[in-house]
Amino acid sequence: MPELTTIRELRNYAGQTVRIGCWLHNKRSSGKIRFLQLRDGTGFVQGVVVKNEVDEATWEAVSRLSQESSLYATGVVREDPRSPGGYELSVTGLEIIQITEDYPITPKEHGIDFLMDRRHLWLRAPRQRAVMVIRARIIRAVQEFFDSNGFTRVDPPILTPSSCEGTTNLFHTKYFDEDAYLTQSGQLYMEAAAMALGRVYSFGPTFRAEKSKTRRHLIEFWMVEPEMAFVDHEENLRVQERFVSHIVQSVLTNCRRELETLGRDVSKLERVQAPFPRITYDEAVTMLREMGFEFSWGDDFGAPHETAIAEKFDRPVFITHYPTAIKAFYMKPQPDRPEVVLCADLIAPEGYGEIIGGSQRIDDPELLAERFREHELSEEAYGWYMDLRRYGTVPHSGFGLGLERVVAWICGLDHVRETIAFPRMLYRLYP
Ligand code: 4AD
Ligand code: MG
Repeated sequence: MPELTTIRELRNYAGQTVRIGCWLHNKRSSGKIRFLQLRDGTGFVQGVVVKNEVDEATWEAVSRLSQESSLYATGVVREDPRSPGGYELSVTGLEIIQITEDYPITPKEHGIDFLMDRRHLWLRAPRQRAVMVIRARIIRAVQEFFDSNGFTRVDPPILTPSSCEGTTNLFHTKYFDEDAYLTQSGQLYMEAAAMALGRVYSFGPTFRAEKSKTRRHLIEFWMVEPEMAFVDHEENLRVQERFVSHIVQSVLTNCRRELETLGRDVSKLERVQAPFPRITYDEAVTMLREMGFEFSWGDDFGAPHETAIAEKFDRPVFITHYPTAIKAFYMKPQPDRPEVVLCADLIAPEGYGEIIGGSQRIDDPELLAERFREHELSEEAYGWYMDLRRYGTVPHSGFGLGLERVVAWICGLDHVRETIAFPRMLYRLYP
């Protein structure tokens, strides 16, 4: 019996006999021929069974195969330019592992709640597989970029005694006799790490008890958070545009077939090359008013505002210098105009919204202490953070990229719920 191989590897076996472990995705028949769509996780291949070319037991086994039945298939690999992977399998033998009965996700349309309740099975669908493959490629591109640009990966804690992004959406838990929160962002710890290692990045899960139910919010999402010593606002943006371009180009190079499965218009992604356009918050407000929005200076942008601005550009756009009052306590004010901060949100094209939030950080100990008082942050919980300004403070900047928002944009999905294997959402903890 030939050794087991995978569908992805079939191209190395043209003309040879192979054996694969797989599931039946679909089948159809035409006279004395059966076409089996087989999947093994690495890809899909069509198995062709011809009645006169197999023994009776194999032919009989084919007729019993139902959707998601598991099996080993043996056959000869044939080059076939018409099939999606470029190869076909002329089946010579089948060993059934299990005949599946009543698989709930049939090729017909299902409602989203039905699919979400069966997410553990829905993941097997070709589109869902394509999204997971692209997500994994994005993660790889993230690591490639930072590992080859002088950054050291540091993992901040998940259980924390204090908040980073305000207290409204904190997840509370007990930590023995103390109170603790699930991290909203590793940033404050990454600032400490940057003072030790220069350029650092983290990649891990973050949690926000968002009570809003939108296409862009998850309760548990993954964030990439670089932090850089001696880097100012301008350089922070240059790192971000190179970083995002690298991710998109890497997916275009390595995931053509998956993008095709998703029906993604790749010409829109091909344009995503640095540099990215930059507009200030003030300019964005003017643009919005010209487009007919009623908008007061000092308000934050909502999804419709971000979408309207993004439509003016063919690649991601930075909106910089937001009002100090609507941004986080740690952002550095513009020295000659302290009512705005040295920050930027990066807005993805095509209505996908904010994919990055970042800023230069306050490096002056007095100003930071003032902010603590204004925001009523306890010196006890944040004392260690103050130490970073007390012992060799330097200008530094960083940002956070939301992985699921980027996956949704690159894959062209209209909701973040399909960007992670098991999404945690408002009112959904199962499966
Ligand atoms: O803009 P945010 O809140 O920034 C921070 O947390 C900073 N401390 C990051 C830093 O500078 N190190 O979040 C960063 C990004 C957003 O731009 C968005 O892409 C994503 O995280 N994000 C979410 N993604 C999915 N679901 C949610 N509920 C999200 N909240 C933020
Ligand atoms: Mg933000």
